[in-house]
Amino acid sequence: MDSNKRPCDMQRITTPALAKAFIDEQVKLIREQVKDKKVLLALSGGVDSSVVAALLIKAIGKQLVCVHVNHGLMRKGESEQVIEVFKNGLDANLIYIDATDRYLEKLKGVDSPETKRKIIGAEFIRIFEEEARKLEGVEFLAQGTIYPDIIESDGVKAHHNVGGLPEDLQFELVEPVKLLYKDEVRVVGYELGLPKKMVDRQPFPGPGLGVRCLGAITRDRLHALREADAILREEFDNCGLSSKVWQYFIAVPDFKSVGVKDGKRYEGWPAIIRAVNTVDAMSATIEEIPYDVLHKITDRITKEVDGINRVLFDLTPKPIGTIEWE
Ligand code: XMP
Repeated sequence: MDSNKRPCDMQRITTPALAKAFIDEQVKLIREQVKDKKVLLALSGGVDSSVVAALLIKAIGKQLVCVHVNHGLMRKGESEQVIEVFKNGLDANLIYIDATDRYLEKLKGVDSPETKRKIIGAEFIRIFEEEARKLEGVEFLAQGTIYPDIIESDGVKAHHNVGGLPEDLQFELVEPVKLLYKDEVRVVGYELGLPKKMVDRQPFPGPGLGVRCLGAITRDRLHALREADAILREEFDNCGLSSKVWQYFIAVPDFKSVGVKDGKRYEGWPAIIRAVNTVDAMSATIEEIPYDVLHKITDRITKEVDGINRVLFDLTPKPIGTIEWE
């Protein structure tokens, strides 16, 4: 039987009881596969890698070595949440690498979106490789591959797989959720006790805020973007939009306009709000955000975030616009 094909009689995991049965089965299979060896996992904090981490911790505890690379392009509080949940909460064997300076140095002056993506991807492989070489007894690599990854890309999806590792660093794969759909991964995540905030996380591109800090990334503009994005998320939480809207974020372009603050000329960047609904991200519609919410967000961002002096709301559906701004 093709192990990458979901059997047609496989029941959809929709309840805690079905999730528990899945977890018990996978714990057994993982123990049989891994025995007393170590498993390495790149833990981004996204839903899939987080669920795989929690599953492996349950199965093999400290034999799992998680590596969380903070590329400096995470949203506000995300790396802290990974440490809180996995290191403090689940007592995981977690290596945390703050690679912010490394990434921002490499990205300095680079404004082409594709080149930015390539740099971010290549640097990740390099850091992951460095960490892998320091460890002994690692024979397995765990990955948060899910079924749509297999269907859509024949098992190879650059942002999930740590592809590109050198020949002498090839591991046997452990992919416990590879036959599950996203909604099933979430049910399993809840059953494993992961926090709602992590399990319900909206999609976030691998290159992170790097694709939303448009043009060449600078520390001050990246900081402004992160703060403005945190305010948007907070206000969406407050008014119940966060559980309704599929994806919402801020993009900050690399130009300034003139404004007035405290009676003085104040040049700043615009913060662009994107809030879309979609089923498969191939097309998307715009969420109708109440004006009072938009005013509140605008007021907070322009008052609280250094460097931003205007807030814009993007009304463009996909197509013609893509969801991201790059
Ligand atoms: P676009 O901008 O193409 O985005 O309409 C469609 C969806 O894909 C997400 N996206 C990514 N997801 N790695 C990911 O996991 C990436 O490199 C990446 N780039 C875009 C985007 O956020 C949207 O949900």
